[in-house]
Amino acid sequence: MNAGQATGAAGAAKNADAVISVDAVWKSFGGQAVLRGVTLAVKRGETVAILGRSGTGKSVLLKTIVALLDPDRGSIRVEGSDLIALDEHGRLEARKRIGYVFQGSALFDSLSVADNVGFPLLQARVSPAQVRERVLAKLDLVGLSAAADKYPAELSGGMQKRVGLARALISDPAVVLYDEPTTGLDPLTTDVINRIVLRLQRRLNATALVVTHDVASAFTIADRVAILENGVFVAQGTPDEIRAHADPWVQRFIAIGSERGHLSGSHTGLFPQPIVKPDTPKAESARLTALKADSDAGSEPG
Ligand SMILES: Nc1ncnc2c1ncn2[C@@H]1O[C@H](COP(=O)(O)OP(=O)(O)OP(=O)(O)O)[C@@H](O)[C@H]1O
Ligand SMILES: [Mg+2]
Repeated sequence: MNAGQATGAAGAAKNADAVISVDAVWKSFGGQAVLRGVTLAVKRGETVAILGRSGTGKSVLLKTIVALLDPDRGSIRVEGSDLIALDEHGRLEARKRIGYVFQGSALFDSLSVADNVGFPLLQARVSPAQVRERVLAKLDLVGLSAAADKYPAELSGGMQKRVGLARALISDPAVVLYDEPTTGLDPLTTDVINRIVLRLQRRLNATALVVTHDVASAFTIADRVAILENGVFVAQGTPDEIRAHADPWVQRFIAIGSERGHLSGSHTGLFPQPIVKPDTPKAESARLTALKADSDAGSEPG
């Protein structure tokens, strides 16, 4: 399996035209490796959905891409620039071209919704009237025009999430990273968010990475789906390729996620505990064989 996993130098050469290029990235915390040689290339206008169990490092990967975290090894380029190599000022400048929807909304409690959404424009030379106009347009996009002058504490969790989305899009970024944009939202709101992602992609040719637990959303919005497991992508492909994937573990992963509408954490015991190995092609193949063996042995979903 794993035909879609680009590796090492070959991957880097093939990915020369990528807008987001992640090559053999490792990241550990306290001696525990979370990312183990992650490689991914996203082309201009492409939307790639990242699926994976809770705690597999999806958020760490997004934060590493925007250099909120520094990788231990490997390289990352966004729109050709190596954020890791830049100083903090350079990183701040580069991040202005990248929209980031945080998993936990990350709103300023003391600012109104409008001020939260308009916050990224404060540094730019935009008049207050123009800021207000652009803020209202983005709030309209996420269905929250009426909430402009409310404060985050007055909003539901789902509304806060949509404010975070409006803020990420305020500068019409060419690259958008979404961390769980639909988790915890009702199906109708999920549909609204998915349509926004698709619209940005189709009308503005935005390049997007969408981390999600929501298998249905991933298959709806993504050109390609990548499944992160044990610090590497174990499967990458178009939604059709992933649906037809030969690996039973991938099949079970998708089936459970689709049934439940989302993928739960490892604590649920839904999936076999991964076997920790460095990401060499040989080790990866051994690990996948082990996952298959576990799957064939019929360990039951919890
Ligand atoms: N700043 C940090 N310091 C130490 N450990 C961290 C830090 N950030 C993440 N981790 C650890 O890295 C692992 C991956 O975390 P991450 O938040 O990326 O998971 P995730 O795949 O996004 O999970 P979820 O689906 O629940 O959001 C976890 O074990 C987490 O505890
Ligand atoms: Mg996360």
